[in-house]
Order: sequence, then structure tokens, then C-alpha cells
Amino acid sequence: MSNQLIFYLPGNETMAKSLSNKLNYPLGKAEIRRFPDEESYIRIDENVKNKDTFIVCTLNKPDEKLLPLYFLCSALKEFDARRVMLIAPYLAYMRQDKSFKTGEAVTSGMFAKLLSKTVDKIITIDPHLHRLSKLDEIYSIPTIVLHAAPLLSHWVKRNVQNAFLVGPDEESGQWVSEIAKDAGVPFTVLTKERISDTEVSITMPDLRPYKNLQPVMVDDIISTAHTMIEGMKKIRAAGLKTPICLGVHGIFAGNARSLLEETGAQIITTNSIYSPTSGIDISGLIADALK
Ligand code: R5P
Repeated sequence: MSNQLIFYLPGNETMAKSLSNKLNYPLGKAEIRRFPDEESYIRIDENVKNKDTFIVCTLNKPDEKLLPLYFLCSALKEFDARRVMLIAPYLAYMRQDKSFKTGEAVTSGMFAKLLSKTVDKIITIDPHLHRLSKLDEIYSIPTIVLHAAPLLSHWVKRNVQNAFLVGPDEESGQWVSEIAKDAGVPFTVLTKERISDTEVSITMPDLRPYKNLQPVMVDDIISTAHTMIEGMKKIRAAGLKTPICLGVHGIFAGNARSLLEETGAQIITTNSIYSPTSGIDISGLIADALK
């Protein structure tokens, strides 16, 4: 009998099954659903006593996931699971890490406090660390941070001839430089100013040296997609080809994916959040880290 069990929240079946196959840890049986009034119902149909339990729950749309996640974790602890570990390929609430305007809640720290009380450990991929340098600065539990850069550079090497990588803003510099180095291709980073949730303004460096190359815009998160769309407009206006859009986490808020598709660009993300653009599988990265 295995001492490890993998549970998952609805919507995370594919990733949980893939991890279960790769790690040879069985899936734990649990019923997780909503009552008609939308409160959560949780029933664990397993003996979890003294077991290491993993919960797969990627944290896009975190507000609706947090309470069921909390109930599942609390129930596992009440039934004496040895450890409750969260596999959250996408970790939410990493961007409001500062109070930009008087009175603003610094939600990254608050969210971290809440999760630190809910689980014993977190495994995640490329959390948005910008002003913070490590998750330990806000999380009081052990965290394993994995990086998708080698998978992205592998994708670029296999799929793009004469690539040149473009980071849409200063924050993306860390991912872009690593991927470019690994793929052996040039890169540049643009300057972005965020005007509102859905408006950004982008300033370009001189792109003439890259005119005959295939631009690939790389970002950690594609949310409203305005960063990608604005960057793309500028790159095209500079006379370059339509960029390929490569993102680690495809959140695609609202109609973001169709807006981006309308540009005609090829869009590729990892399956940290499943979408039709998930062309890069990160389950092996997680399984290797847990082995
Ligand atoms: C910046 O904070 C991130 O690295 C991304 O550039 C940003 O989240 C993308 O957001 P959006 O798709 O809404 O422009």
C-alpha cells in the first residue's frame, strides 16, 4: 500500500492523473462538489492516516478555489494525514506585492499567510517574483519553486527557426534571458508602463538588427493579453514578422485568448493552467521534483 495519495480539486483531473502515473502514487478518492446553494461539500473516501497527501489545485481564479481547498486540507488534517502538500502549478496573488496607492491591501502577503496555515508545503512553477526575491519572504512553510525555462527553450529550439526572444517588460527579463541563453538565440527586453488593468504602453529599443529573425514574445503570465497585444503591435510596426506568443501561465482572463488569437499569432503556454494553447507539459518537471 502506498504511503502517498494524490487528491485534486475539480478541473485538475488531467494533471493529477498524469502525476499519479509518473510517480506511481494512487489517486485518493474524494467527493468534492457544491450544494445547490453553492456551499462546498467535501467527503474523503480513503484512510489517510499517516499518509503524505498531495492536492493538485492550480490557483487561477483563486477566490472560488480557496474555500474548497481549505476544507479539503483541513479534513485531511483532521483525519490524521501525515502531511498535506499543495501542488499549485500556478500560484495566485503574487502581483499585488506592494501598496501602490494609499490604503491598498498587499494581498500577496495575506494570501501567503492563509495558505501557510492551510498546507504543510507548496510546490509551484515560476511564481511571479518581481519585487520579492523568494517565496520564503511571505510564506512561512517550505516551498519548492520549479522553473519552466528549460521546457520553453526546448520548445523554441524544436519549433522556431532563427528565433529572437522579446520580453515585454523589465520583469520578464529574468525568464527571457535564461530561455534565450539555453536556446542559444538573441533577446531584447521592452519597457512597459501599466496604465490600468487592461491598458499598457510599451516602448521599444531599436529592433533593426533583428529584422530577419522570428520574434518570440515570452512572458510568465498572459492575463488580459494586453501586454502581448501591445508588444506585438509595436514589433510589427517596426517591420518585423508577427511574433509567436509564449507564456508560462495562460490565465486568459475574460475574452483574452480570443483577442490574442485575432492577431493571428501562434500562442503557446504550458499546462500549468489547461487551455487549448497548452502545448508544453510541465507534469514531468513536477514529478521529477517529487521523486
Ligand atoms: C507582469 O506583471 C507580468 O509579467 C505579465 O506581463 C502580466 O501579468 C501580463 O498581464 P496582461 O496579460 O494582463 O497584460
